[in-house]
Amino acid sequence: MLSVEKILKKNNFSKTDLQYLLESKGEERQTIFEKSKATKELFVGHKVYFRGLIEYANFCSKNCYYCGIRAGNKQFTRYQLTDEEVMEAVDYAFSNNYGSLVIQSGERTNKTFVSKIEGLLKKIQFLTKGKLHITLSLGEQREETYRRWFEAGAHRYLLRIEVSNPVLYKKLHPDNIHHNYQQRLLALQTLRQVGYQVGTGVMIGLPFQTISDLADDLLFFRDFDVDMVGMGPYIEHIDTPLYQYRDTLLPLQERFDLSLKMIAILRIMMKDINIAATTAMQTIDPQGREKALMVGANVIMPNLTPVKYRQDYLLYENKPCLDEEASECKNCLEIRIHMAGDQIAYGEWGDSRHFRNRTTKK
Ligand code: 5AD
Ligand code: SF4
Ligand code: FES
Repeated sequence: MLSVEKILKKNNFSKTDLQYLLESKGEERQTIFEKSKATKELFVGHKVYFRGLIEYANFCSKNCYYCGIRAGNKQFTRYQLTDEEVMEAVDYAFSNNYGSLVIQSGERTNKTFVSKIEGLLKKIQFLTKGKLHITLSLGEQREETYRRWFEAGAHRYLLRIEVSNPVLYKKLHPDNIHHNYQQRLLALQTLRQVGYQVGTGVMIGLPFQTISDLADDLLFFRDFDVDMVGMGPYIEHIDTPLYQYRDTLLPLQERFDLSLKMIAILRIMMKDINIAATTAMQTIDPQGREKALMVGANVIMPNLTPVKYRQDYLLYENKPCLDEEASECKNCLEIRIHMAGDQIAYGEWGDSRHFRNRTTKK
């Protein structure tokens, strides 16, 4: 029997097991993908949930070393959607039966921004009669802000831990209280307490990151008992401090392959959570998202941001779908998802089964 087969028979993977799985090649790698595919079929089925993505604004008060829209980058234009533009995107998602929406932006914590989001949430709730499920991805905020947005109608929150190793976290962020690992962890815990379904995630293939770090990331997801995970390859951006380390990175294809393995192993470990097939996967491989679906992912986030702003929301280079209108992405995705052997679950909120199981157990 292959060593991988012995590991996959276990109920709980040790860190050494995870490292072994992450380093597997050839037949062993294929065995992992077969197992993750079967796990997905059994526990979440063939449904793919759509989350219409609105990149609301690219203003950000932070300076993460990897990110193209960091405050320190002056090489592009900052924007914020008007209320009408947000509502048009909402309307598109609602009338096309997307079931769910993600509002994402750079991090801002000022009063005006907090009230603006609260107002938009109430408006969306009212206009869609509470039928459109709303996810926020607006960074670290005070508990009161998380509460206000929750009460205004947001149900889920995505906040990536980025890397679960605090030492590595320090290398990827400026050393100040706004970029503090413990704060980030606390924010995740607060979100959970407030009542959100909580999603987190990491980047894969970062400078200084090791296989041991990635194994720890998987253990972090399990120990935190997350409901959703979105992770994908790190892709360098020329106007960022990390760009100077580009020669130390794994080749893009290897970062992609590691990302696929991370998704597959996570599906085997956390059978009923939602896992996103991220845009960064598609940036490296034109069929990246389909490949992610085939090894265990079950969520896709079609972009609903008005096309004229897309050039200015470049967290990393070569982001796809910069010119495609929402309807073009929808058609494209329908074909691609079908080819991957899945179906789009139109009109469903698509809460993770994990969340339902977790909350009904209590
Ligand atoms: N490559 C890949 N992902 C990135 N993100 C930010 N910069 C990059 C990059 N250069 C991810 C972060 C963040 C999410 C919104 O985008 O994980 O949480
Ligand atoms: Fe801002 Fe998020 Fe980019 Fe960091 S990763 S600079 S918080 S948008
Ligand atoms: Fe945008 Fe294919 S998903 S063009």
